[in-house]
Amino acid sequence: MKVATSEKILNNFVETKVTKEARVNLSKRMIQIIRDDGIKSLWFKILGEIGYRRLILVTLHLDEPTERAKTRLPVEFSMLHETDLDKYLHFRPDQTASEINNRFIAGHLCFVGRYEGSIVYACWAARQVARIDYLSLDLGLAADEIYTYDTFTLPGFRGKNVFPAGIEYTLRYFRKAGFRKYVGCVLPENRPAVHTLSKSGYLRFGMIGYIGLGRSKWKFRRHFKTSSSLI
Ligand SMILES: CC(C)(COP(=O)(O)OP(=O)(O)OC[C@H]1O[C@@H](n2cnc3c(N)ncnc32)[C@H](O)[C@@H]1OP(=O)(O)O)[C@@H](O)C(=O)NCCC(=O)NCCS
Repeated sequence: MKVATSEKILNNFVETKVTKEARVNLSKRMIQIIRDDGIKSLWFKILGEIGYRRLILVTLHLDEPTERAKTRLPVEFSMLHETDLDKYLHFRPDQTASEINNRFIAGHLCFVGRYEGSIVYACWAARQVARIDYLSLDLGLAADEIYTYDTFTLPGFRGKNVFPAGIEYTLRYFRKAGFRKYVGCVLPENRPAVHTLSKSGYLRFGMIGYIGLGRSKWKFRRHFKTSSSLI
C-alpha cells in the first residue's frame, strides 16, 4: 500500500473516532443536563449556543436586616490574599493563575470559606464595572453598588447553607465600607443558585441579554418597576 493511501486511511479513522467520541460525550452531557435540571434547561442551553442568552438581574439591599444564616458546617470566612493563590487554584482547578491575577489587578476582592483549612467556597466582588462574561458585556455600577460574581461552593459542600453564610459575611464587610446594594445576575434555569439567592434575601429587578450572533447582536436590558421575589 502506498504511504499516501495509508495516511489517508489513518486520517479518516482518527476523524471518525474523534467525531464519534465527541458525539458520545455530547449526548452524555445532554442526558446529564436533562436529569439534573430538566428539559427546559437543555433547551435554553441550546438556545444560548445559537444566539439567545439572558440572565435575571438580582439585588440585595445591604441596609436591610438579614437573618443569621446557619451553616451546617463550621466554615470560617475571610478575604483571600494574593499569597493564597495556589490554595485558591487547588479549589478551582478550572481557572488559571493569570485569570485570577487579572481580577486582583482590577481591584476585585475575593471572599472564601474554609473548612478544616481548605477552601470550600468563594465569591468575587467588583465595583464600578460589572463584567458579565456569559453575555460579553460590561455593566456600569453606581458608587454604592457591589457586583458579586463567580460564587462557587465545592460540590461536596453544597446544600449546607455555606452560600447564605458567605453572603452574610461579605454583606457585613461592605455595609461597614459604606456600600448599600449588591447587584448580580443568575441563569433562570440554575435552580440551586436561584434558590439560595432567594433565601438570602435577593430580589429580581430586571433581565439582561442578547439575541443574535457575532456582530449582529441585539442587546436588551429591562428594569422592572418594582423588585420582586425570585421564587
Ligand atoms: C449555587 C451555589 C453557589 C449554592 O451554594 P450552596 O452553598 O450549596 O447553597 P445552599 O446551601 O443554600 O443550597 C442552595 C440549594 O442547592 C440545592 N442543593 C441542596 N443540596 C445540594 C447538593 N448536594 N448539590 C447541589 N445542590 C444542592 C438546594 O435546592 C439548596 O436549597 P435548600 O437547601 O434551601 O433546599 C452552588 O450550588 C454552586 O456552587 N453551584 C455552581 C456554581 C453556580 O451556579 N454559582 C452561582 C452563580 S449565580
